[in-house]
Parts: sequence; structure tokens; C-alpha cells
Amino acid sequence: MVDYVLDKHDRPMKDLRISVIDQCNFRCTYCMPAEIFGNDYRFMPESELLSFDEIVRLVKIFAQFGTEKVRITGGEPLMRKNIDQLVGRIKQVEGIKDVAITTNAVFLVRQAAKLKEAGLDRVNISLDAIEDDVFKETNGRGIKTKPVIKGIEAARAAGLSIKINMVVKKGMNESQILPMARYFKETGDTLRFIEFMDVGNHNGWNMDTVVPKKEIIDQINEEMPLEPVDPNYYGEVANRYKYKDGSGEIGVISSVTDAFCSTCTRVRLSADGNLFTCLFASVGYDIRSMLRDGESDEAIISRLIQIWTKRDDQYSVDRKKRKPTKKKIEMSYIGG
Ligand code: GTP
Ligand code: 5AD
Ligand code: SF4
Ligand code: SF4
Repeated sequence: MVDYVLDKHDRPMKDLRISVIDQCNFRCTYCMPAEIFGNDYRFMPESELLSFDEIVRLVKIFAQFGTEKVRITGGEPLMRKNIDQLVGRIKQVEGIKDVAITTNAVFLVRQAAKLKEAGLDRVNISLDAIEDDVFKETNGRGIKTKPVIKGIEAARAAGLSIKINMVVKKGMNESQILPMARYFKETGDTLRFIEFMDVGNHNGWNMDTVVPKKEIIDQINEEMPLEPVDPNYYGEVANRYKYKDGSGEIGVISSVTDAFCSTCTRVRLSADGNLFTCLFASVGYDIRSMLRDGESDEAIISRLIQIWTKRDDQYSVDRKKRKPTKKKIEMSYIGG
């Protein structure tokens, strides 16, 4: 085990988020707008994607730094062939306690049971509306909510822990805050509202499009009284609230109005093997070349120590001070 490595703000490297594919079956307007990600968009060819062997080798290395949580993301991670096999291999790595996937759930109908069997612990499912008319617009593909609901049901039947993620964007789906809260209060699944963020370069973000955490909580609290709950773990991105009547909880991820960079222990790997120390980074570190050039584990470990010890990121804290001109990586490339 390598000694705990801390960055410039004394943050350890604890959660590894691995994007396994940059493609998605949705075209959410705030993430992969159809006019940019059209028929002629060049997604990564298979040869550029890290292989399962390469990913597992890296997970073993990260586990030596104290990484305990691995989250598999995309694009849509369930579009990567045989993803259950990767889950199984990651789950067996010594030190890895929690393996989760962030997905839009459509392919869970077919895959939930075998993912659970492979060792998957949890799924975070993106759903931005409960009413078809709104959802058909947000996903950019005219898809109704039913395939997602069926995916959620399949995950539940398979025994996976579930959280639902709803990005809230003014003018897009703020009408769905209460209907979504009511629906998932009934099912007992934890629903998390996410403030729309300025990730990437194409999603038309500005401060006027953000519905602040406080407004979301006030709206729900008025109809269904809430009280705050302590975080589940150090550095949890969501602020938790439970319903006073005991019927479950909600969360709010407020990267814009209440940043959580001071406890950010997350490191991100793109599907083509670039490492990013912040969701809003402009450049990554090429780890795939090291893997494919035959570098030793020791050499990779030294490189990771070098990268992490000079990490100074706190984009959300500094958001107001920044000029919005710098080109950033896209959400579908880095997996959120
Ligand atoms: P849990 O382990 O279940 O707490 O997962 P998570 O909330 O960390 O992961 P998920 O993929 O469900 O992310 C939910 C939302 O939080 C997405 O919109 C992410 O982009 C956002 N998010 C996750 N990590 C960070 C982060 O480090 N910084 C910012 N700004 N947003 C983040
Ligand atoms: N702001 C906030 N959340 C976003 N996501 C994608 N793009 C954005 C954005 N601009 C969410 C997805 C998914 C998670 C990985 O990130 O809806 O739930
Ligand atoms: Fe696909 Fe998720 Fe992006 Fe929507 S938010 S386009 S489901 S990766
Ligand atoms: Fe971490 Fe960057 Fe998100 Fe801050 S903005 S919490 S540093 S990923």
C-alpha cells in the first residue's frame, strides 16, 4: 500500500470514476445536444477505448492509494459490451468496497440481474421528468419515461441499491420538481436534484438557468415537510433531507450555489485513458500511453503521485472569479 497521498488542499484520492464509452442512446439537451452530437459526430473507435485488462490494472493501482469506491460512467456505460464482466473484475480487486454505475436505465431491463450477479452494488439513474411531454424534450430523442421506469423496476427486482438523479434546469423541467418528489416518495427511492452545471462548452449554461438548492427545498418542504440529515460519508456530493413523516429521503447536489470542493476526493478517467482531477478541467493526463508503452506499475504510481500532489482544483468555489472562455471537457467524455 502506498502511503495516503494528499493534494494541495489535503484531500485524499478516494473515489475513482471511470468512463467506459463516450456514446449514449439519449441526447439530453444539457449534455449531448443533438445538433452537436449528430450523425457525423466522431465517437471514439474501439481501439482508443481502454480495454478491460487496462482498466483493471489501473483499479488495482488506485486501490493502493486508498481508493475504495469505483463508479462506472459513460456516455451510457451499459452500451459498452460485456460491462458486467468488468464490474465483476473490479469488485474482486482487493480494497474496492463499492462498485456503482451511473446510467439512464434503459438497458437495465436486460442487464440488471447479471450486473447484480457480477457484484454491482448500486445504480444511480438519471431521470429528469416523470411526465412524458417534458421527458421527451429533455432526453432529445422523444423517449417516454416508461423504458426508464421499467429499468428502475428491474434494478429493484435485482436487489441493487438505487438513487435517482434529476438535473433541474430553469425553463426545461422545474415544473417536475414536485411531481418527481411525489412519485419517488411513494416508491421509497432516494431522489437527488442536481443544480444545472456549466460543464462542457455547448450546454448554454448561465446563472439564470440554475434553480438554487434553497428554492428546490422550499418548494418540497411546503407540501412534504423535510428535515436535514447528516452525510452518509465524508465528501458526499448531495446534501440529504428526510421526509418528516418517515417516508424516505431526498438529496440536493448544489455545485453552483453551495460548492463542495473542499472535500472532493474524486479522480476521473476518460474512456480513452486520460485522467482528470476536476470535472471542469481543460486538460487531462495521458495514462493510456503509459499502459501501452509498457511502463511498470511503479512508474505509473510515481506519475499519479506527481499529478495528485500538485492538484489544486476547486472550480466550483472559484466559479465566479473565472473567465468562461477556457475550453472544458464534455460531460459525455468524462461521465459527470
Ligand atoms: P454517490 O456515490 O451515490 O454519492 O454518487 P455521486 O453522486 O457522486 O455520483 P453521480 O454519478 O450520481 O453524480 C450525481 C451528480 O453529481 C452528477 O451531476 C455529477 O456530475 C455530480 N458530481 C459528482 N461528482 C462531482 C464533483 O466532484 N463535482 C461536481 N461539481 N459535481 C459532481
Ligand atoms: N449539470 C448537472 N448535471 C449534469 N449531468 C449531465 N450534465 C449535467 C449538467 N450540465 C448529470 C446527468 C447524470 C450525471 C452523471 O450527471 O444527468 O445524472
Ligand atoms: Fe446520455 Fe446521461 Fe448525457 Fe443524458 S446526461 S445524454 S443520458 S450521458
Ligand atoms: Fe471536485 Fe472540481 Fe467538482 Fe470541485 S468542481 S467538487 S474540485 S470535481
